[in-house]
Amino acid sequence: MSDLSIEERLGLVRQEALICPHCPLAQTRTHVVFGDGNPNTPLVLVGEGPGENEDETGVPFVGRAGVLLEQALKENGITRKHIYITNVVKCRAYTIENGRAKNRPPHISEVEACRPWLEQQLQIIQPLVILCIGAPSANALIHKNFKMTRERGQWFENTACAPWAMATLHPAYILRQEGEAYEQARRCLIKDIDSARRKVIEARKQQKTTLF
Ligand code: URA
Repeated sequence: MSDLSIEERLGLVRQEALICPHCPLAQTRTHVVFGDGNPNTPLVLVGEGPGENEDETGVPFVGRAGVLLEQALKENGITRKHIYITNVVKCRAYTIENGRAKNRPPHISEVEACRPWLEQQLQIIQPLVILCIGAPSANALIHKNFKMTRERGQWFENTACAPWAMATLHPAYILRQEGEAYEQARRCLIKDIDSARRKVIEARKQQKTTLF
């Protein structure tokens, strides 16, 4: 396994994940949304879980929230080719209300069932920095009592899956804001992505100075 490239190792895990039977979401999904982007990256973004568009396409963050996220990345000169994007849960969680599927937060048991996939991804990619998109991701990767209102934009060192992790607002939350609140939240996302970009540069410098 160690002779294989990062892409090859991730490809093997992906093949297994695509047929995962480990929680009830397996019965209702269209696609497992494993991850997208460049696995040779120091920066990984981790969201909550796929919605309707992601379930349809098998690609994370391709709906309205994804468009907003991509715009905020672009403001920082970052594209999907520079980073890797995945989710805490790889299959869509939803309920049926009035005959229509409505996204719901994943249950703790679903997050736990999916965790080995996320851990394997992060172990292979070995990011220097993780940017958690939304509180459920921060609860899974930073600490379980994470509060976005209190701890957003704050750096956490030596977390379980990366030397540095931080959480920012979920673009789906931003889309629910109006007027000035929307603009403020959008600017917050752009600023936090900039902070993650700067942290990568700082952590790379630190890595070099500790090696020599
Ligand atoms: N929201 C998420 O958290 N992840 C996606 O992939 C899409 C929307």
